[in-house]
Amino acid sequence: MTNQKRFTHEPPPNPFPLSDIRAQLPDLLDYIKATQHSVTISNYGTPVARLAPLSALPPEQPTRSIAVRKLRDNLTATVWELHTHREPYQITHYRDPIAALLPVDLSDSQETPMTTPALRIAIWNESGGSGKTTIAVEIGYLLAQRTNPATGAANRVLLIDTDPQGSLTRRLGLMDDPTSPAHRLSTTVGNFLNDPEEAPPVPMTATNFPELHVIPSNNKLSKIDATLLMNDEDIGNLRKLLDQFEGQYDIILIDTPPSRGGLARAALSAVDHILIPVNSSMKSIENFNHVLEVVAQCRRFSPKLQVSAFVVTSYNKTVNHDREVLQILTEHYNAIAPTTSPITNRKAVFNDAMISRTVVPCWKPKDPAVQELNLVTDQLLSIMGATA
Ligand SMILES: Nc1ncnc2c1ncn2[C@@H]1O[C@H](COP(=O)(O)OP(=O)(O)O)[C@@H](O)[C@H]1O
Ligand SMILES: [Mg+2]
Repeated sequence: MTNQKRFTHEPPPNPFPLSDIRAQLPDLLDYIKATQHSVTISNYGTPVARLAPLSALPPEQPTRSIAVRKLRDNLTATVWELHTHREPYQITHYRDPIAALLPVDLSDSQETPMTTPALRIAIWNESGGSGKTTIAVEIGYLLAQRTNPATGAANRVLLIDTDPQGSLTRRLGLMDDPTSPAHRLSTTVGNFLNDPEEAPPVPMTATNFPELHVIPSNNKLSKIDATLLMNDEDIGNLRKLLDQFEGQYDIILIDTPPSRGGLARAALSAVDHILIPVNSSMKSIENFNHVLEVVAQCRRFSPKLQVSAFVVTSYNKTVNHDREVLQILTEHYNAIAPTTSPITNRKAVFNDAMISRTVVPCWKPKDPAVQELNLVTDQLLSIMGATA
């Protein structure tokens, strides 16, 4: 199957004309696998079948198996066979089941929605330079490499950039091309935050990581920050946007601006978990007395919101000050949330990975930083109650 996902930026036509499927079947199947969306197939405008994710196969129903290539070569016959016998097909690629082909009424009535809600995490600290964006990208990447036990497939990870500085967006290579849609307000969460009747932004694919979906940010989002504080009902709109993505992602990570303004509050109001990175400096923990106040205010939209973990980044165990920061967190702030194991200060490797628009596990797979990042990922999953 091709890695060129033709429908990643723009969903395919739905219904999809039967006559056009032959050439585009691999792309369509990639799209269905990546988004877990179904696509109806129509013949001269009449729906005749549905290409769907495997999860849509009714569990009790006998199914037949058909290889992608065979399906492509016998499309019309297969669709009519389906019409007559009403027995769904499992589509396979080199014997691996990858998608389903269902008769239209069966797929309408029995499609099993993905019921496990996405794990929603905001990465927040009012201090800039505390490691928010780094953690979002590195942990987001590692989570996408792991198998989700509920689905048996890799975690589907959505990263949302809500910082108008767009560091996460830039870091994922989406700003390097000046003509990239990532430079427009319409691709960010901005329009939807102003008006949830607006079409939701379509997640983009990170330049070097097709497994990571991203809703980008850029400096045009900064004007939304102030309007959100004036219309504070709108702060809850990001939560509505995430509700629309339910079933499509296993994990949603939101990178936030270094503030407690409208965008940061919108992010916190959309999630259940807050992860607070602390860059081994007292400055990074100075503002903590405000944290619980802001959390309490955001519970208006997100009743289960809690600080779930602290993670110390840029840690140097030979420096007294760094050890003190870790100690304050583990001893004094333990009542708020546990602290994960620290991530050691490795300027060269983290900065080089950033400049190269990649992540440390790809840049230097054998670097001890990768082990530390994996350990933190394990700890976060166990703290937040998921085992992906
Ligand atoms: N463990 C680490 N060791 C060394 N430098 C790090 C580490 N983690 C992050 N950094 C660097 O710290 C700087 C700020 O990190 P960043 O994630 O952008 O913070 P924030 O998003 O909170 O502003 C970046 O240059 C990043 O490469
Ligand atoms: Mg940042």
